[in-house]
Amino acid sequence: MAHYVINGGKPLEGSVVIGGAKNAALPIITAAILAGEKCRIENLPEIEDVKILCMILEKMGAKIEHVSDGCIDLDPTCIDPDKGVTFDMVSSLRASYYLLGALLGRYGYAQVAQPGGCSIGQRPMDLHIKGMRALGAEVNMSRGKITAKAENLVGADIYLDVVSVGATINIMLAACRAEGQTIISNAAKEPHVVDVANFLNMMGASIKGAGTNVIRIKGKKNLHGCTYAIIPDQIEAGTYMIAAAATGGEVTIRNIIPTHLEAISAKLMESGIRVTEGDDDNEFFITVSGRNAKPRAVNVRTFPYPGFPTDLQQPMMAFLTTADGNSVVVENIFEDRFNHVVELERMGANITVIGKTATVSGTERIYGAPIYASDLRAGAALIIAALMAEGESEVHNIKFIDRGYERLAEKLTALGADIKRVED
Ligand code: EPZ
Repeated sequence: MAHYVINGGKPLEGSVVIGGAKNAALPIITAAILAGEKCRIENLPEIEDVKILCMILEKMGAKIEHVSDGCIDLDPTCIDPDKGVTFDMVSSLRASYYLLGALLGRYGYAQVAQPGGCSIGQRPMDLHIKGMRALGAEVNMSRGKITAKAENLVGADIYLDVVSVGATINIMLAACRAEGQTIISNAAKEPHVVDVANFLNMMGASIKGAGTNVIRIKGKKNLHGCTYAIIPDQIEAGTYMIAAAATGGEVTIRNIIPTHLEAISAKLMESGIRVTEGDDDNEFFITVSGRNAKPRAVNVRTFPYPGFPTDLQQPMMAFLTTADGNSVVVENIFEDRFNHVVELERMGANITVIGKTATVSGTERIYGAPIYASDLRAGAALIIAALMAEGESEVHNIKFIDRGYERLAEKLTALGADIKRVED
């Protein structure tokens, strides 16, 4: 175990380069199973979740060669789907549920331990299973294991009762190899859904409409290998934007796609933060300046893309703890995504939670304290709070943060933060 020691009160200054998107990398690595040959995947983030997923695939027989930083050659041809994925392998990696769609699509058989929920909610998989069954698979769940099998998958029209990123992608994976056409209605439109569809199309799949709420997939008998670079991480970029605003500094965030950040840019500008976009030789950047600004309270409601991302609700709340006035934060996606509140209160924040609504009454400042991350984005929120607080904080349980933020201490130190990683 390890923790960060952070001395707050220093404005972040300088520029930071954003890595590949975690929530695109995980399904894309899994989607490579569908190819009958080697794929090269570039711009992978250096995070624990990617390492764990690669380890799981290697245990199943995949050959993975690390070509260079963030670049792998993945050869799925020796994968054995009977090498079921055990609970201890997947319990720390929710995204292992993508193995269901990929293995079912490639081999007509998948056995995956049901990944645990985590501290943001129950994380059901009923829509994933509804989709697999609609494609003709027989799906059973018993003793924490999900087993799916199908003589042959046949395309179907599938309506998602709830907009679900995971279910949208998982069904897309299986449908790529199903006979005929599959239509997914009420599909998720997140940038990483589009990225997975683009990767599959590079492999020879026929997917249209990704990024809208209706996705059409024409199944193919075989898919081939390809080379593909992951899109930049919308949530990592948003986290650094909020950190710049919260510390009253000025940071240029590079290697981003501005349209992916519109909701967070708009919300920061509404609060009185200066946000400017630009590009030099075809590389986009965004500059966020909180210098000499006393942020105004704003209301935040999380929605599926292009709404305000639920993954930035927790970092945004840290920023709002010292904004001028009362902010109302409504978490519409997950039923239990306020576990960071008690930690922020320990730092002097004034927050009231009733159901899915948190009211943040801005205080003059917050103070350093020992604080404990309960999940990945709660951890990001606590890092931001520690950076903006007066005095020293210890941020514990940073294994959660290692899952989704590459080289966090290095990037923050380069921006002038006083942060040290201490092994417990
Ligand atoms: C993905 O989780 C992301 N994880 C999450 O990011 C992100 O918060 C979430 O999408 C929403 O954008 C990965 O991509 C690995 P959902 P996922 O299915 O797919 C309900 C992070 O910090 N639902 O879009 O699990 C569900 O309970 C993580 O990077 C069902 O009811 O989220 C939730 O209320 C945290 N039945 C809503 O849908 C289902 O079968 C949205 O969940 C599936 C989901």
